[in-house]
Amino acid sequence: MSMEWNYNYVLWSILISLMSLIWHLRRKNSCRSSKLPPGPRGWPVIGNIFDIGTLPHRGLAALKQKYGPVVWLNLGPVKTMVILSAGAAEEFFKNHDLSFADRFNNHSMRSHDFYKSSMALGPYSSYWRTLKRICTVQLFSNRRINETVLIRQKCVDMMLSWIEKEVEKGASDGIEVIKFVFPTAFNLIGNLTVSRDLMDPYSDMASEFYMALSGIAECLGRPNISDLFPWLGWLDLQRLRTRRDRYLDIAIQIVSGFVNERVQQRQQNQGRATEHKDFLDVVLDFEGNGKDEPAKLSHLQISIFLMEMFMAGTETTSSTTEWAMSELLQNPESMKKIKAELLRVVGANNKLTESHIHNLPYLQATIEETLRLHAPVPLVLPRKAIQDTEFLGYKIPKDTQVLVNAWAIGRDEESWEDALCFKPERFLGSSIAYKGQNFEFIPFGAGRRICPGLLLSHRMLPLILGSLLHSFDWELSENVGCEMKIDMRETFGLTAKKLESLKAVPKPMTT
Ligand code: HEM
Repeated sequence: MSMEWNYNYVLWSILISLMSLIWHLRRKNSCRSSKLPPGPRGWPVIGNIFDIGTLPHRGLAALKQKYGPVVWLNLGPVKTMVILSAGAAEEFFKNHDLSFADRFNNHSMRSHDFYKSSMALGPYSSYWRTLKRICTVQLFSNRRINETVLIRQKCVDMMLSWIEKEVEKGASDGIEVIKFVFPTAFNLIGNLTVSRDLMDPYSDMASEFYMALSGIAECLGRPNISDLFPWLGWLDLQRLRTRRDRYLDIAIQIVSGFVNERVQQRQQNQGRATEHKDFLDVVLDFEGNGKDEPAKLSHLQISIFLMEMFMAGTETTSSTTEWAMSELLQNPESMKKIKAELLRVVGANNKLTESHIHNLPYLQATIEETLRLHAPVPLVLPRKAIQDTEFLGYKIPKDTQVLVNAWAIGRDEESWEDALCFKPERFLGSSIAYKGQNFEFIPFGAGRRICPGLLLSHRMLPLILGSLLHSFDWELSENVGCEMKIDMRETFGLTAKKLESLKAVPKPMTT
């Protein structure tokens, strides 16, 4: 009996030990497999929505101190990883770019299937590759950019003549700088894509299109209750989808008008482009193999593709120029240096042209410093995990949204000395550039989905800013306040523009 008891006892002990070992191993394994980055505890259902605040790039930046450079959040049902340091961004873009090459689309982006025809918001697919190839070769290649120098010069000359008129009228109260820069950027893209000037600061279309594009960007960037409670999506409680649809209709209608007009012109020409083939002609003539690329692009696909070029290229350009002017007006020493450089290199009675730009390091450094402090697309554009991915020892599940906070990384004290000070000098003689290789400075993003308009912006931004500064002396208007301080707060949408647009007085140049 006692032998039998002993035997059973040993058998049960071994069995229980084995079972607890298996349970322990499985638990350990499952813990490891669900190992997520650290992050604040969320509320039931809504998760961490209150942790991001009304300006998410700022709210998210503040989490780094407590949780480190990679933070996990649940934004309602949306699993979200946030990247907050140059080191984590380097690992992300260098070693995991493909796994996260999809775009994450929130509720308002998904409605009406807009994103399916979009290059910027669409998934990483053969359709995306087709659009990327077309615009890289036909708009953004070095050859095309060199061929279109005169177009950019013409648009900038027009901007200067608009401002000249304001000076003649005696604009002592100042002008809203963005009202003149936005149509310039718009005409630049208009001339490159559809060979026409489309706007001036006084046209109704300028303000209508500006409002529509800004409205779309704001609706897309804003946290949406429908993302937290997808089952309430049909109610559209913040009216974001309704507003987005209205803005989208206006913008697409305007662009679609250009496409219609061109189709009619071509019909009069037996369906062919005229001798001078522009980007719209290339897109209308596109013939794919019909297998891994579309056979033709539909009218709607073309309109969305063109609209995206306007949307991606205009607000980013005009907002960067406005931030740069604001910083310079607040930093008179930098203003003096840039004006002196322009005077020395270009000459008092000459016009700035693109050929001067490589001799204007302080102008270039000013633009770099502006992009560092005021990344126009602060959270880059949201990426999405295509598959389960091991990232820095964390197990990131498929479909996770990834926000790379370029704004926070540009202001990170770990990467930048006096990070919050405007000091263009830091870029003089520095090898740090915004081309997607230096991860402490990624205003254009990095990896496969890096901004394709980077090279074009590299030409446009110094030409626009340099021309404004070389052609006029600028002062703050008196109603800015006796401290002469500019309101440097920003809004949040897809782009972070100035909350209060800059008003400054242009004066004829005194040498
Ligand atoms: C100051 C100027 C600009 C800035 C700061 C900027 C910034 C960005 C950023 C951060 C992204 C997302 C990159 C990523 O996900 O890694 C992006 C994407 C994009 N940008 Fe720009 N951009 C600028 C100008 C332009 C211009 C002039 C154009 C075209 C005319 C343009 C067209 C696009 C497009 C089509 C995408 C989507 C790329 C994709 O998803 O594959 N951008 N841009």
